[in-house]
This record gives sequence, structure tokens and C-alpha cells, in this order.
Amino acid sequence: MRSRNTAPQQPIGLVPGSIAALALCGLTMSGLLPGIIWKLVSILLCGMVWWQASLNVMAKMDRRQRFIFQALCYIGLFLMPLIGPGELPRMEYIALKFTGVFLWALIIAIIYNIIYKNKPKMRKKIVAGNWKMNTLPAEGVELAKGVVAGRGEVCSCVNFIVCPPFTHLAMVAEALKGSDIELGAQNCAAEAKGAYTGEVAAQMIAALGCKYVILGHSERRQYYGETSETLNKKMAQAYANGLTPIYCVGENLDEREAGKHFDVVKAQIEEVVYNLTEEQFKNLVIAYEPVWAIGTGKTATADQAQEIHAYIRKVLADKFGAAAAECPILYGGSCKPSNAAEIFAKEDVDGGLIGGAALKAEDFLAIGKGFQK
Ligand code: PGA
Repeated sequence: MRSRNTAPQQPIGLVPGSIAALALCGLTMSGLLPGIIWKLVSILLCGMVWWQASLNVMAKMDRRQRFIFQALCYIGLFLMPLIGPGELPRMEYIALKFTGVFLWALIIAIIYNIIYKNKPKMRKKIVAGNWKMNTLPAEGVELAKGVVAGRGEVCSCVNFIVCPPFTHLAMVAEALKGSDIELGAQNCAAEAKGAYTGEVAAQMIAALGCKYVILGHSERRQYYGETSETLNKKMAQAYANGLTPIYCVGENLDEREAGKHFDVVKAQIEEVVYNLTEEQFKNLVIAYEPVWAIGTGKTATADQAQEIHAYIRKVLADKFGAAAAECPILYGGSCKPSNAAEIFAKEDVDGGLIGGAALKAEDFLAIGKGFQK
């Protein structure tokens, strides 16, 4: 069973439901379909369509917009008795009132959708390469040079980031000089400095020219026991050193199959991102990476990605309001040139965090071209 934290179900198709509801109301009210049963059916259908229209638009709204939308619907409900004819029999009157409210809600929903759809995506388009523990330093430099050399073929609207291993950062920073490709690290320490053998501090990677740091990647959660507690400290270190975290969330296969993926990503966000200040939140990138899709060749479908990205944005909006609309949410997990365009075309997908395909400059750049199609 799904909990109340999950994304809304679709009880009825909006367009066929609206047509059926309007037709049925017309027939019952004109007397062509007499009898109380038909009137009850048409009221029920109107109610369902109204509910569906509300769910559809409300899923995209932040808390304030949802409040205004609901308030407008209720105002319609209470105004209806004032504008409807007063002399109708009871059932006709109720049917008329429901039809009116339903139409009212639908008009508000359509206006909202037009405004929402016509508003260009203002969010950054990002393609970030997570090289993981791959390449020797000289190979990393070659790879970075390859990306720089082909960058001109991809729209300048796409922001490329490469995240090599720590050992390559200085050399790759040098190779990226003069280009607009940015540098990121794959992790940072939870402490500022001191006796932490083997750790690399956020201030060290920032000093090497990094602008980003990947935090909370599933491989680090899984193999190195990273918890929300450590991640809160790492986020604080990242912000203290002017780095933008690319915070990863995502469910494993068991959780997906048990239908718990919405709850899992919600908890990963609430336990870490909800602790950020509004200022910090403005400098955050989220990467949704279903663990079952990482390095497996199995990609989430574009619709699966959109469904959960929209949900993540809603969870962010519940805490940070309208600022959630500006937060880039990347998809990661077997993203490659052949599937990037379809995934990136989705409304709430703002790019990708790329593993395997980032190890070949031409594939990495071709993924960036996914935004142009
Ligand atoms: P993948 O890795 O593209 O190789 O699946 C993505 C990631 O782990 O960031």
C-alpha cells in the first residue's frame, strides 16, 4: 500500500472524464436522462474530474500556490448559489452547483497550466561527469582536453562539469583553463582539517579550483557507510568553502519494487536538504539516481524519471517554496547519448549525472547535445 507521502494517483483521465461529465450533466439537466440515478452518476463524475484536475495542477504547485488554488475553488463553491437559478428542484440544483464548481476549477487549472507551460525553464541545464575511480592522471588530462576540444559543438546553454578523482584535480583544472567547463570533486571530508588520515577537506578541493562536490552518492552510502548525519557535516563544509553540492538521492531495487521509492527520496531530502538555510538551498544541485540503474545499463524510463523528479520538486517546495522551481534536478543511472534527449526533454529533468558515458569525451558531449533535440 502506498503511504500518503507518495505521488498522487490518477483516478480518471482528465480529457475523457471532462467530456463524459459535461455530456452527462447536459443530458440529465435537459431532462433527456431523467431519474435520480443519472443525476447521482453525473454528480459523481463531475466530482471525480474536479478532483483529477486539482491533483494534476496541484502536483506542480508550491504550498502558497496550492493554497490560492484551493481557496479559489471554495470561493466558487460558495458563490454558486448566488448565481444559479433559485427555483430548481433539489437534485437539479445540486447537479448544477457541482457542474459550475467543476467548470470553475477547470478554468483556473487551464489558466495555471498555460502560465506554467509558457514560462521558459529558467533552471541551469547541467551535464556532470562522475569519473568515479577511473583513469590514471595522464588519461584524465586527455579526457578533459577532449571535452574542451569538442565543447564548441554543444549549445553554450549547457553547463558541463567534470568530477575526476582527487589525484587528478590540479592537472585537470589546468587542462580546463580557458574553457567554461567546471570542475567538481566526488566527495569531501566531514571535518574542516586536522588528524583525519586519508581524508580530503572541502577547503583543499576548493583551493584546487573545484566549484562543485558530489555528496551522498549511493556508492558512498553503500560501501562507506555514509549517513545523513555525516552528510549534514559534509554539506556544511562544502558551503563554508563556497562549493555547490550535487546531492544524490535514490532508491535501490527492493525499495522500488516495494513501491517505497517516493518515501526513500523524501527521507533523504528531509534529513539533509531540509537543514539548509534558504541561501544555501539556492546553491544546490540534486541528482536523482536510482541505484538499480547505476552502471547496470538499465535506465529509468523518461516517464519514471519525470514522475519522481516532479515529486522531489514538490518535496523541496514544501520547505523552500517558490525557490524549488529554480533548483536543478539531474537524472543519473546509465544515461547515455541514445537516451539523454528523451529524458532531458521532461519538464522536471534539468540534466544528468553521468558515470560510464563520461569516460569518453565524445559520448559525454553527445549527452550534452541531448538538450538541443
Ligand atoms: P552510470 O553512473 O552513468 O555509470 O550509471 C551514474 C553515477 O553513478 O553517477
